[in-house]
Amino acid sequence: MKKYPVTKPYFTDEEIKLISGSLDSGWVAQGPQVAAFERKIAEHEGVAEGVATTSCTTALHLAMVAQGLGEGMDAIAPAFTFVATENAIVMTGAVPVLCDVCRETFNIDADKLRTIVETEYEARGGKLINRKTGNGLWGFVPVHEFGLCCDIHKVNALAKEYDLTVIEDAACALGSMAAGRHQGAFGNTSYVSFHPRKSITTGEGGMILTDDAALAKKMRELRTHGSTVSADARDKGGGFLLPEFPVAGYNYRMTDIQGAMGLAQSEKLDYIIGEKRKAVSVYNRMIADRIPEFITPVEPEGYFHTYQSYVCMLDKEKLGVGSIKEGGEFRNRLLSKLEEAGIATRQGTHAVHTLGYYRDRFGYRPEDFPNAYECDRLSVALPLYVGLSEDDIDIITGSIRKVLDELRRI
Ligand SMILES: Cc1ncc(COP(=O)(O)O)c(C=O)c1O
Repeated sequence: MKKYPVTKPYFTDEEIKLISGSLDSGWVAQGPQVAAFERKIAEHEGVAEGVATTSCTTALHLAMVAQGLGEGMDAIAPAFTFVATENAIVMTGAVPVLCDVCRETFNIDADKLRTIVETEYEARGGKLINRKTGNGLWGFVPVHEFGLCCDIHKVNALAKEYDLTVIEDAACALGSMAAGRHQGAFGNTSYVSFHPRKSITTGEGGMILTDDAALAKKMRELRTHGSTVSADARDKGGGFLLPEFPVAGYNYRMTDIQGAMGLAQSEKLDYIIGEKRKAVSVYNRMIADRIPEFITPVEPEGYFHTYQSYVCMLDKEKLGVGSIKEGGEFRNRLLSKLEEAGIATRQGTHAVHTLGYYRDRFGYRPEDFPNAYECDRLSVALPLYVGLSEDDIDIITGSIRKVLDELRRI
C-alpha cells in the first residue's frame, strides 16, 4: 500500500553540496551563509532586510521585544492559529487578546478586530486602555494562515487610525502575495518559518523581514546576546572588535549549516510553490466532482496563495451533523480511517482558546470564538508536496469518498 505523508520536504544534491561547503570552511556557527540566505529571502519578498533566527517563534519573540511589547500591554491575535503566535506574546509578558477568524479564509476577521478595539478599549492619555484590565493596547499580530495573506490592508488601516503596531505572522506564507506585493512588503515587520512543514526548510529556522534598517540592527543585536558586534563582523575585523552589551539579549542565531541549506532551498522556492499550486488545482477539480461534503480553500481575487497546507472544511449541512462537536467527532473518525488507508491528514490548526493554558488562564468556552472553534473541529489538511501526481490525488480523493460513504452508512 502506497503511503501519503501530509507533507514532505523537497531536497536535491544541492543541499548536500552547500552544507558540505559550510563544513569544509570550518565556519558552522552564524556567518556568511546565513548572511547570504538573509539577502536571498529579503530580495525574494521585496524587502530590504532579513534577520534569520532559530525558529519563527524566536523571530516573533525577538521582533515583539524589539518593537516594545511587554508587561502591561495587550496584543490582539487570531483565535485560529498555531499556538506559537500567542505563546510569543506570552513570552514577552504581554497578554494575548483573541479575535475570531473568517471561516472561508481562516484569517483574522478585520471587522471583528475593529469591534474589539472600539468596544473593549477606551482612549485615555493618548493610549487605548483595556476597560477590564487597564492594559494598554500595543497592536495586532495577524497571521497569513496556511499561505493566504489576511486582509492586511484593512488591518493596517485600523492600526494607522489608532496609532498601533502590526507585526505579521507569516510562518506559513513565504512567497504569498496580496495586491501585487509579497508578504513582508506591507509596511510592517513579518516573520517566516523554515520548519519542514513549510515550503522550504532549514530543519528548524525562521526569519524576520523588514524595510527598517535601524530595527533590523536592533534585532541583530538582540539575536546575539545584546552584542553590538556579530561574530562574523569580529572575524572580518581581525578579532579585535570588542563587543559592547547595552541590552540583555538572547542567542537566537541560525547556524551557517542551516544557512547553507536555506540557500539551496531558496533556489527551489518558486518551483515548489508552482508544483503545489498545480496539485491544488487537481485537488479542487476532483473534490468538486466527488466530495460535495468538502469545502475547498479559497484564493480571493488579487491574492496569491502558496498553500503551505491544503486545508478543506467539512460541510456540516451536507454531512447532516447537528453541532460542531458532533462534526468534530465525525472528522476525527474520518482522519483515523484515512490514516489506516495510508493517507496522513491533520486538522488545519488550533482554536487557541480551547487549548489548556489559554482555556484555563482566561476561562474561555469553545463558543466564545465560534468560527475558530468550527475551523478547529471541521478542518482537514490533505497531503500536499512536490511529486504528488494526478494519479496520487485520484487515489487520495477516491479513498476519501469511500471512507465517507462507509462512515455515513454507520
Ligand atoms: C502561524 C504560525 N506561527 C508560528 C509558527 C511557529 O513556527 P516555528 O515552528 O518555526 O517556530 C507556526 C508553525 O507552524 C505557525 O504555523
